[in-house]
Amino acid sequence: MKKQQEKYIEPSLSCARKRTKDEVEYSEFAFNPRVLGLGKGKTYLLKTFGCQANLSDSEKIRGILNHLGFKETVEEKEADLILLNTCAVRKTAEDRSFGEIGRIKSLKKTNHNLIIGMCGCMPQEEATINTLKEKHPEIDLVFGTHNINLLPEYLERILINKEKVIEVFSVEGNVIEGMPKVRDHKIKAWVDIMYGCDEFCTYCIVPYTRGKERSRKREDILNEIKVLVKEGYKEVTLLGQNVNAYSDGDFGFGDLLEAIARTNIPRIRFTTSHPRDLDLRTIEVMGKYPNIMPHLHLPVQSGSNDILKKMNRKYTREVYLEKVEKLRKSVPGISLTTDIIVAFPNETESDFLDTLSLVKEAGFEGAYTFIFSKREGTPAFKYESNVLPKEAKERLLKLNEEINQGFLKGNKRFEKEIVKVLVDGFSDKDESVLSGYTEHNKLVNFNGDKSLIGEIVDVKITKAYTWHLKGELQK
Ligand code: SAH
Ligand code: SF4
Ligand code: F3S
Repeated sequence: MKKQQEKYIEPSLSCARKRTKDEVEYSEFAFNPRVLGLGKGKTYLLKTFGCQANLSDSEKIRGILNHLGFKETVEEKEADLILLNTCAVRKTAEDRSFGEIGRIKSLKKTNHNLIIGMCGCMPQEEATINTLKEKHPEIDLVFGTHNINLLPEYLERILINKEKVIEVFSVEGNVIEGMPKVRDHKIKAWVDIMYGCDEFCTYCIVPYTRGKERSRKREDILNEIKVLVKEGYKEVTLLGQNVNAYSDGDFGFGDLLEAIARTNIPRIRFTTSHPRDLDLRTIEVMGKYPNIMPHLHLPVQSGSNDILKKMNRKYTREVYLEKVEKLRKSVPGISLTTDIIVAFPNETESDFLDTLSLVKEAGFEGAYTFIFSKREGTPAFKYESNVLPKEAKERLLKLNEEINQGFLKGNKRFEKEIVKVLVDGFSDKDESVLSGYTEHNKLVNFNGDKSLIGEIVDVKITKAYTWHLKGELQK
């Protein structure tokens, strides 16, 4: 056992914190011919938690597994490999994944050959590896966010050499192009434009789990999008933890956005924007091209300057609201959504009221809201707090009430309007009802034939609810 443990490569949050000035290197992914066919006759089940970065990574994992000959299944009992792609952003996210592991490992009693794996952001933390080793030694495969490309080799070690693999790198590697992707959708695609984050907001684990900021080269991004257009994709969402920090030499995010707008892709979205880095050039480009959607997710986190400072967000509420004004001028009718954290250490009632007032002033039409969660390794982990859990919950409820009002108001403005909807599929509740999103990112349900899935159609809005719109197809 001891010998085996020495072969493990384990994470270190203190290494992950370091940022070097080294140039980013680029490399091309390739399969070693030796591993082809490794998954023949075997099935896998992949569960994804967390943000779009994980959704996009899961498409690569699926691409690799399918290429090795594995077939995807949704039946746990059938699977030869169950892999969890995990999120570490809040404790609740981690609890959910550990709960899943606890449940899934019991399947080993009946399926002795079952391989259980964990990847994504959680393995990037020492604490996760310790818990896995102590409480879940049944896990066969652990890797992180920087070594998805090595999955074929890891599976070979497990299946052929009967090893257990724990390999997590804390220093980011090259930007690797050419990994195969099996995409979630046939009409909407995630396109990574950059990886990592150098912002170090004091509450956030992401800069540690995802490493240093690294941008893809413009030609690789544009080529990917040109292929998507040829394949009939209608929408791309450009992904990065801080897309506004994109840089390929002096070619910045605004330049990239404009170049993408000039391809024939009908709809462009991007996430996530950082309010400090969102620049005038980007705001102008957003107003200039009709295929850049009039919706922006711009996480504000707090409306109190004091808290923003303690969060290391590097902007004030005034600067944030100024950018909102510029956006509204450049993109009339733009829909804005945000992320907000309540009960950051020592947040006062007055800080919280500042957040409520900012929500009103900014006119958000939706938000993801969270109670601050302590993340080991981040500066805020050590901050003392006098906010009681009960107060935190009350603040979240109050904030959500305000947000929901904005949500409904944002939806109401489309009543009686004719809007363009990209038809995604059927409504969750009713298979005879179609659903899709408007340019402003509003969910619409309406009656129509399934042949319209994948098309952009005109829909007249008949009624607005808090979470969705109801409409009639225009012929
Ligand atoms: N890069 C993106 C997404 C980061 S994670 C961005 O900067 O917006 C998504 C959201 O989770 C954040 O916007 C923040 O609101 C929330 N979040 C991050 N760390 C958190 C923590 N420790 N506790 C509670 N919420 C957190
Ligand atoms: Fe986290 Fe801040 Fe980076 Fe977003 S910008 S990923 S909140 S550190
Ligand atoms: Fe979670 Fe990692 Fe995304 S921590 S939010 S999956 S970058």
